[in-house]
Amino acid sequence: MINEIKNSNNECKKLLNGQWKESENGDYIEIFSPLTNSSLGKVPAMTKEEVDEAIKNSKEAQKQWRLIPMHTRVELLYKVASLLEEQADHLAELVMMEVAKDKKSAKSEVLRTADLIRFTADTAKTIQGEHLQGDTFPGGNKNKIGMVTREPLGVVLAISPFNYPVNLAASKIAPALVGGNTVVFKPATQGSLSGLYLVKIFEEAGLPPGVINTVTGKGSVIGDYVVTHPDISFINFTGSSEIGARISQMSKMIHVLMELGGKDAAIVLKDADLDLTAKNIVSGAFAYSGQRCTAIKRVLVVDEVADALVNKIKIEMEKLKVGNPLELEAADVVPLIDANSADFVEGLITDAVELGGKVIVGGKREGNLIYPTLIDDVTKEMRVAWEEPFGPVLPVIRVKDAEEAITIANESEYGLQSSVFTNNINDAFYVANKLEVGSVQVNNKTERGPDHFPFSGIKNSGVGVQGIRYSIEAMTRLKSTVINLNK
Ligand code: NAP
Ligand code: G3P
Repeated sequence: MINEIKNSNNECKKLLNGQWKESENGDYIEIFSPLTNSSLGKVPAMTKEEVDEAIKNSKEAQKQWRLIPMHTRVELLYKVASLLEEQADHLAELVMMEVAKDKKSAKSEVLRTADLIRFTADTAKTIQGEHLQGDTFPGGNKNKIGMVTREPLGVVLAISPFNYPVNLAASKIAPALVGGNTVVFKPATQGSLSGLYLVKIFEEAGLPPGVINTVTGKGSVIGDYVVTHPDISFINFTGSSEIGARISQMSKMIHVLMELGGKDAAIVLKDADLDLTAKNIVSGAFAYSGQRCTAIKRVLVVDEVADALVNKIKIEMEKLKVGNPLELEAADVVPLIDANSADFVEGLITDAVELGGKVIVGGKREGNLIYPTLIDDVTKEMRVAWEEPFGPVLPVIRVKDAEEAITIANESEYGLQSSVFTNNINDAFYVANKLEVGSVQVNNKTERGPDHFPFSGIKNSGVGVQGIRYSIEAMTRLKSTVINLNK
């Protein structure tokens, strides 16, 4: 329970060297629920000195952690996965209250995380180095033998976003730890209570002191200091493209892994199964109010089937449950994370309407709840054609053919994923080959899972590849030891 790491003033502690400690300067940030506006607790607003102490301790702890046998690290991860399952209801409740996610999705985030951690442990056992013979290169000889091993990088800085406060924290922490790194974990401020609860579970599982230390505080205040700290060896970041770009400009001579924003397109060709397409588009665009990097954020449909598709999307959207998940348990569309986000989404809708976009469904706002909104006849002049709403608004851009859809899809600054809906396998491959994105989904909504698949974005959508095996590889380096025989 999160209360176990709070004091009587509802103030959470920080994890440092295996101990939950009170904030030293007495400064805290209060976390309010977007569902009730009530306080859920406070997290330490850490000073530079406290950040230094956390990173220094992680560096020291890594010297021992890297020596721990792989099977022991793996056993610890299995234990974490089991504890997560045992505490899933409590943690899901906190996720729901803190980031306004419906209870079912919050619980499935926690259980998916247990699966991810267990699969990470399984995968780690299969990662081996290699043995190379010197004589395969011209001029080489058999007396030279290379042993290639995977080594940890050191201290990994894991920075997670608000929208999956458990899963996108664990998908950094677990592969980093199993690779022999220690972790300094900086959760999104809105989401930090859920993040600290997750860390508590790692600690309960028996992680040695210092293997994870927490850093809390506003990214705008401590972010630059943390990401430029000389004892950080690797930054694993998920969040907006704006902050991602800032971090990659500031960090010096270290690798980064970044999952950033997206503007995923659903391209619909004339022979698509429109019922399947409409269902996928609606769940892809509106689940958790579109607050997912992989949400479908624009539809590019060929003229011949545009009217029929818009009509089917409208019918599917009318089935969406909209409201506060405390009152409507299975709500698909919930209040956005804060008023700024709702203002931003509303601004996109207003701009589109002023420029001639037709609101087919929605367009209504109550507080931070934006009703699911479908805008037809969107043109390239409208902001909603290009900007990531991170909210429940879906623009439809009508195109004359697949070529025009590909052109508009690729004109985006983002390159996370795209879908193509068609019953013609040749057309599916043709379009997929031309799309500048990390993944293409044929006849399915865009989505990250299953979590062992490679997940990457190009252009402003990211740097490097996540996905269980790929994440472990990204957070380890190859080292060669060369044996030179003399006989
Ligand atoms: P965000 O505002 O960029 O914040 C992400 C994280 O960065 C938070 O922990 C934040 O801390 C921290 N941060 C802020 N300023 C920083 C700085 N100067 N230096 C270091 N860290 C800093 O993003 P968000 O609103 O949480 O998440 C939404 C965005 O994330 C969307 O653009 C979405 O597409 C993207 N996202 C991408 C993926 C993907 O896999 N591609 C997945 C999920 C989300 P504070 O909370 O304290 O500000
Ligand atoms: O925005 C978070 C991203 O990782 C999405 O995951 O499973 O909702 O596609 P998913």
